[in-house]
Amino acid sequence: MAKSPSRVIWTGSLAVRHLCAAAEAVPVKRMYRRLSELGASGGSVSKTLNEFILEGGKTSKINLTTCIKKLRKYGRFDHAIEVMEWMQKRKMNFSHVDHAVYLDLTAKTKGIAAAENYFDNLPPSVQNHVTYSTLLNCYCKELMSEKAQTLFEKMDKMKLLSTSMPFSNLMTLHMRLGQPEKVLDIVQEMKQRGVSPGTFTYNIWMQSYGCLNDFKGVQRVLDEMKMDGKENFSWTTYSNLATIYVKAGLFDKAESALGKLEEQIECGRDCDFQKNRRHDGDREAYHFLISLYAGTSNLSEVHRVWNSLKSSFRTTTNISYLNVLQALAKLKDVEGLLKCFKEWESSCHSYDMRLANVAIRACLEHDMHEEAASIFDEALKRTKGLFFKAREMFMVFFLKNRQPDLALEHMKAAFSDIKEIEWQPDQKTVSAFLNCFEDEKDVDGAERLCKIWKQLNRLNSNAYILLLKTYIAAGRLAPEMRQRLEEDNIEINPELENLLERVSPK
Ligand SMILES: *[C@@H]1O[C@H](CO)[C@@H](O)[C@H](O)[C@H]1NC(C)=O
Ligand SMILES: *[C@@H]1O[C@H](CO)[C@@H](O)[C@H](O)[C@H]1NC(C)=O
Ligand SMILES: *[C@@H]1O[C@H](CO)[C@@H](O)[C@H](O)[C@H]1NC(C)=O
Ligand SMILES: *[C@@H]1O[C@H](CO)[C@@H](O)[C@H](O)[C@H]1NC(C)=O
Ligand SMILES: *[C@@H]1O[C@H](CO)[C@@H](O)[C@H](O)[C@H]1NC(C)=O
Repeated sequence: MAKSPSRVIWTGSLAVRHLCAAAEAVPVKRMYRRLSELGASGGSVSKTLNEFILEGGKTSKINLTTCIKKLRKYGRFDHAIEVMEWMQKRKMNFSHVDHAVYLDLTAKTKGIAAAENYFDNLPPSVQNHVTYSTLLNCYCKELMSEKAQTLFEKMDKMKLLSTSMPFSNLMTLHMRLGQPEKVLDIVQEMKQRGVSPGTFTYNIWMQSYGCLNDFKGVQRVLDEMKMDGKENFSWTTYSNLATIYVKAGLFDKAESALGKLEEQIECGRDCDFQKNRRHDGDREAYHFLISLYAGTSNLSEVHRVWNSLKSSFRTTTNISYLNVLQALAKLKDVEGLLKCFKEWESSCHSYDMRLANVAIRACLEHDMHEEAASIFDEALKRTKGLFFKAREMFMVFFLKNRQPDLALEHMKAAFSDIKEIEWQPDQKTVSAFLNCFEDEKDVDGAERLCKIWKQLNRLNSNAYILLLKTYIAAGRLAPEMRQRLEEDNIEINPELENLLERVSPK
């Protein structure tokens, strides 16, 4: 008997759809990979996208939106906004949400004034609760209380306060300004207006009680959340709860919340009809588990959860490794840390300097210079940088061990690694040099450092303060110093004048 024609067509079209999806998914990955690589190579987004099209790649809006989302997730705001600007040039329509995303990216990359300007020029139909809330969120993030309050009142007049989001934004602002008691007022206000709180609102409300050391209050919010019919907490409720208890040093309570968090992930997996395939969001839940168990100083749990993470996902990302390395560093498990690091180093496709930095710092803190140096040598071979953070760690290490020559070599190299960006050594590094030269009365060392800075046009008053303090410690005079300062065009501030009077009296 012949097959029913409708069945053949049905299978056929399904197969075609599968093929299309597969053919689409590959270019999106390729497109994202190229865009994410721009971080290291410093190339241009529009050029990359144009090339991508010339090579026959498709750039549908939905796929670009996926890329933007990922770029934002990994903090590549400048590249995300460039993708959006490229879309604007190609006259791709922006939805309300796109406008809100663009507004947020503008604030992040170009500042509040630029974001305000963009918002003011939006057509009235797009000035709705989504874009208003986004602008409010920008003000809150920048801790601009007055502007936030004024906008909130304006939104009230325009009847744009029907959701919990603007209230949560203000609550976050007060938390960051160290005013947890004001959060309670806002919750009161929401209740009066009949706005129902979302999970996020509940979480901040709990945090505010945590900051006020009112743990009965925390429990009351949790109970209210249960009564509110939100008994299906997402894992964020428990990570929030555990964070509150870790901060308060109540480790038993924290670990009990972490146990519930883990149950929640397990349950999420069991309820999922595709068992054993975990959502990407779960990965973040594991990261919280690891950092929070590090917060309760529970090393065995950190290792257990890490193994569980690795067996739950097909791949282990650099972010997961970064997370566990930081946890192990905090718990001073250098051996475990190096094992993890080597595992990543030997398997990774793209070398992530942040991971090497965590490993190098941990080794140097435990006086394991040889291991730190071998990690750094490997990093030099495998990535183009940036290396200055690692070099500063080595500088501080060598200075602590009174080996200024080796520290100076790293200083010189750090400057020549990155000519294109204005790198200024961290204040901690400068102090390390100062302490070493001053303690050792090492005028020659200080002079050599100033010479390096001078060659690189980085000689400033701070450098001279360091030099003069070393002269004073060594009990040496330097009559030519005033003239040197003049030749180097250094402005003499009061601190410098004080020092000058001691080494080069008029
Ligand atoms: C890319 O866009 C197409 C629609 O243009 C969509 O069917 C496909 O699922 C998208 N791919 C990804 C990975 O988002
Ligand atoms: C953009 O949106 C407008 C109005 O919403 C519509 O008329 C136009 O066809 C859209 N353009 C594209 C390219 O989708
Ligand atoms: C909680 O989860 C169960 C099972 O997934 C579901 O049937 C129920 O409707 C959920 N309740 C709420 C308030 O979301
Ligand atoms: C670590 O956490 C587990 C699970 O909460 C607990 O059973 C164990 O006692 C904790 N260990 C330490 C050393 O605190
Ligand atoms: C880290 O991983 C993310 C996503 O997995 C990727 O986009 C990023 O480029 C990686 N970073 C480095 C420096 O390899």
